[in-house]
Amino acid sequence: MPGSLIATKLFVPKLKAGVVDRGRLSGQLQRGGAAKLTLVSAPAGFGKTTAVVAWLKSRPTGGAVAWLSLDQTDNQPAMFWPHVTAALQDAVGRIGAPQLDIPQPAEPPDDRIPAAIVNALAPLPESLELVLDDYHVIDQPAVHAGVTFLLEHLPPNVHVVMTTRADPPLPLARLRAQGDLVEIRAADLRFTADEVAAYLNGAIGLGLSAADVAALGTGRRGGSRRCSSPRSRSRGARMPRPSSPGSQAMTATSSTTWSRRCCSASPRTSGSSCSIPASSTG
Ligand SMILES: Nc1ncnc2c1ncn2[C@@H]1O[C@H](COP(=O)(O)OP(=O)(O)O)[C@@H](O)[C@H]1O
Ligand SMILES: [Mg+2]
Repeated sequence: MPGSLIATKLFVPKLKAGVVDRGRLSGQLQRGGAAKLTLVSAPAGFGKTTAVVAWLKSRPTGGAVAWLSLDQTDNQPAMFWPHVTAALQDAVGRIGAPQLDIPQPAEPPDDRIPAAIVNALAPLPESLELVLDDYHVIDQPAVHAGVTFLLEHLPPNVHVVMTTRADPPLPLARLRAQGDLVEIRAADLRFTADEVAAYLNGAIGLGLSAADVAALGTGRRGGSRRCSSPRSRSRGARMPRPSSPGSQAMTATSSTTWSRRCCSASPRTSGSSCSIPASSTG
């Protein structure tokens, strides 16, 4: 790999401990394989990267995965395409396929690299997922043009997943009209009641009963007293930090209301404490 490339940007991120299983999102991502592009578009902290990683790990079938965690330095064709190429070469190497015949960008002009990638991927015997994580860092039209070309000519065995905080200026309407775009957005990434319960009971360890969760969901404050778990009574239950789905993804759901109800109704006399992140109180 050329010295200017960063190998760790090609690693699929590790899932953190306590990640709530979100099978419905994995299902959406899995179905996206029939399209050319799956766009996972939502603000920071909504669990985009985690959802994609969890889906990749849960896939019933194999296939190659080329992962690229983009950053500001990739916002130019001379860095973007070598990183994409390196991610693809890594991916085919892991499935034992021969290296792809993609020239270094220095040889032909950069704008020929997407075509070279298409031609190199077309004969690949396996399916391949190309994940471009944090595509919102790209704003150079030359990069978008190359990605548009890639998507328009993508071989059927290749699928692109893009996580982004904002919709990119790619021909999304055309892809959508052709049935080649699957979209997972903030509304999809918000935690369901069951996922909130799994998070509060698993990662946070509040020990809520099914009745607690049901009572919180319906807003019956009478049930809230039971939110004070043995653990929270003894050590104080802290709500998730702002960087976790407990504050951002979950904040966007009624879970914040739930958390407020739970915390505000927790019997202070029992010594329970519960801090709501600033971002979830607005
Ligand atoms: N399903 C989940 N269960 C528990 N924690 C999660 C889950 N999804 C995301 N998180 C946590 O939320 C935080 C933000 O998730 P991340 O996937 O990085 O969001 P994004 O990619 O949208 O910025 C991380 O700390 C991550 O571990
Ligand atoms: Mg992310």
